[in-house]
Amino acid sequence: MSIIYSLKNVVKERMVENAGFRLLVPNLEIHKGENIALIGHSGCGKSTLLDMLALILHPDQAKQFSLETNDGETNNIDHLWQKKKRDQLSEIRRLNIGYVLQSGGLLPYLTVRENIELPRRLLKLADDDSINSISKVLGIQRQLDKLPGLLSAGERQRVAFARALSHRPSILLADEPTAALDPITARKIMAVVMELIKGLKITLITSSHDWAHVYKMDLRTLHQEAGAVENGRVYQSLFRD
Ligand SMILES: Nc1ncnc2c1ncn2[C@@H]1O[C@H](COP(=O)(O)OP(=O)(O)O)[C@@H](O)[C@H]1O
Ligand SMILES: [Mg+2]
Repeated sequence: MSIIYSLKNVVKERMVENAGFRLLVPNLEIHKGENIALIGHSGCGKSTLLDMLALILHPDQAKQFSLETNDGETNNIDHLWQKKKRDQLSEIRRLNIGYVLQSGGLLPYLTVRENIELPRRLLKLADDDSINSISKVLGIQRQLDKLPGLLSAGERQRVAFARALSHRPSILLADEPTAALDPITARKIMAVVMELIKGLKITLITSSHDWAHVYKMDLRTLHQEAGAVENGRVYQSLFRD
């Protein structure tokens, strides 16, 4: 099984006047097709880590940060950040990654269909049956011509997943995607998403502060550990299996 992400001693600091937060990932290997949950309390760095995996946020230090893309290439992401190759990073992101945010992040003035089509448009992919088939599996095919504002919160998250998957990325990142939903709706949506990505052999990395919710799903979990460093001025957060 090939390794999609390989991270060694990756550090990201968020300092505000000598006090702050440090995220440390000592050693993380994620294999193709794995399903992973980042678990930890609010403020422990889940979004920070997901943003780095999404190639949106650069690490401050990294002994290694590599990503294998669809074409089988292993990309030295840390090197690309250091050389400020932002276009190359966003190209890798657009081709390989789908990202679902907690609030969905749908564009309110575009219809559901237009929202879902957006990543395909940006990549100039030809129209095919992707939108219809993904919408059907996610149970939103009757909402395609509506504006997002007319949908329930659960339907909007289903649309957010459809949009993140419409260009067939190999990696799906989801930041507390069901945190704003009731537990039954949350579980239903994650069950459908898990089924969908299994069929498409997509690697899923999702975050949650809700342990009970995650343990009911079949996911490899990465846990957060805390430790104060440097006279208690920095809160260090570490993620490991
Ligand atoms: N843009 C930023 N600037 C400074 N500090 C930030 C920024 N974003 C997040 N932080 C801080 O980094 C820490 C981790 O935040 P975050 O990754 O959002 O945690 P989580 O997603 O687990 O709730 C928090 O202490 C937060 O206040
Ligand atoms: Mg967060």
